[in-house]
Amino acid sequence: MSQPIIDTFGRKHTYLRISLTDKCNLRCTYCMPQEDMQFMPSKWLMQADEIRTLAEIFVEMGVEKIRLTGGEPLIRKDAHRIITELGQLPASLTLTTNAVFIDQFIPVLKESGVKSLNVSLDTLREDRFKAITKREHFGKTLGHIRMLLAQGFVVKINMVVMRGINDDEVNDFVRLTIDEPNLHVRFIEFMPFKGNQWDMSKIVSHADLLTQISTEFDFDAIQPEQNDTARRYHVNGAGGTFGVISTVTQPFCDGCNRIRLTADGKLKNCLFDTTEADLLTPLRQGKDVRELIHQHFYKKHFAHGGHAGFSEQQAKSEYETNREMIAIGG
Ligand code: GTP
Ligand code: 5AD
Ligand code: SF4
Repeated sequence: MSQPIIDTFGRKHTYLRISLTDKCNLRCTYCMPQEDMQFMPSKWLMQADEIRTLAEIFVEMGVEKIRLTGGEPLIRKDAHRIITELGQLPASLTLTTNAVFIDQFIPVLKESGVKSLNVSLDTLREDRFKAITKREHFGKTLGHIRMLLAQGFVVKINMVVMRGINDDEVNDFVRLTIDEPNLHVRFIEFMPFKGNQWDMSKIVSHADLLTQISTEFDFDAIQPEQNDTARRYHVNGAGGTFGVISTVTQPFCDGCNRIRLTADGKLKNCLFDTTEADLLTPLRQGKDVRELIHQHFYKKHFAHGGHAGFSEQQAKSEYETNREMIAIGG
């Protein structure tokens, strides 16, 4: 095995997130701020064989878990092939998806050993779904989450909680976990990315979420798993769990094990670090990219790509120079 990817803080990076595309069939404004966004030209995108080669290199460097993201990863015409090929590597494979196309992928997911999927869903109300996503796929999304559960997959629902938009639905989401052992809900603090009009007042903090949930449910904290993005909780007697991903108010950078590869083959050592290392060009030139990967992770900051924190001023300046979330993959 090649040298593992360790930064100067001793963090070992074993979790690779590969964005397959910056395109999506939904238009959630917190993620894709402009309806007429300029997508990457297709020749910039990593091809399926390049994705496989890079994934093999990362697995040799100690990666144990690969997550496919987008945009919407299943929008790619060669998504079947990519899932099949990555499923053969000695690493667990999973996806973050909006589930609209998932019905066409159930067999390939099973054959490729995918056990668990993360599905983005911010509301349980059809009218709000349309307002948030600008599309009419509510029935499909909910139906496909049920289909995944019926087929034995573990499903984690990602809900980005935004004050005044969907924060009154938090307890409805918690209620979903009561009868369904394979359903887990994660409430995500809204994060700043290019163009997404972030400001602190739109965030519902971890503490506020727990207060709201405690008005209706008795719950206990679950012992944290290493490198988990979510602090997890369990309602007494429930099958599933709920969690809070609190990047802004209670960051979890000290246990960060994540590596990000954008759809155009750029390596990011942090969600918020705008310095990227191009892996695709040297790969196409037949060069070995391992040393580039190590160098890029030696430069990794302790938290938030070196930004001091999250203020509105920073959101307007520093975080505005990052990519849109849709072009990072979350
Ligand atoms: P699991 O492997 O199931 O724990 O999923 P995950 O939380 O790593 O991935 P997912 O794609 O479901 O992301 C859920 C939310 O967590 C999204 O809003 C991501 O942007 C955020 N997230 C994922 N990884 C990181 C990270 O390394 N740092 C920060 N700050 N947020 C992250
Ligand atoms: N803040 C927090 N989470 C976000 N996501 C997309 N944009 C944001 C944002 N601005 C989430 C999506 C998806 C995951 C990959 O990232 O809900 O589930
Ligand atoms: Fe890791 Fe950056 Fe996320 Fe912190 S903000 S957990 S350092 S990716």
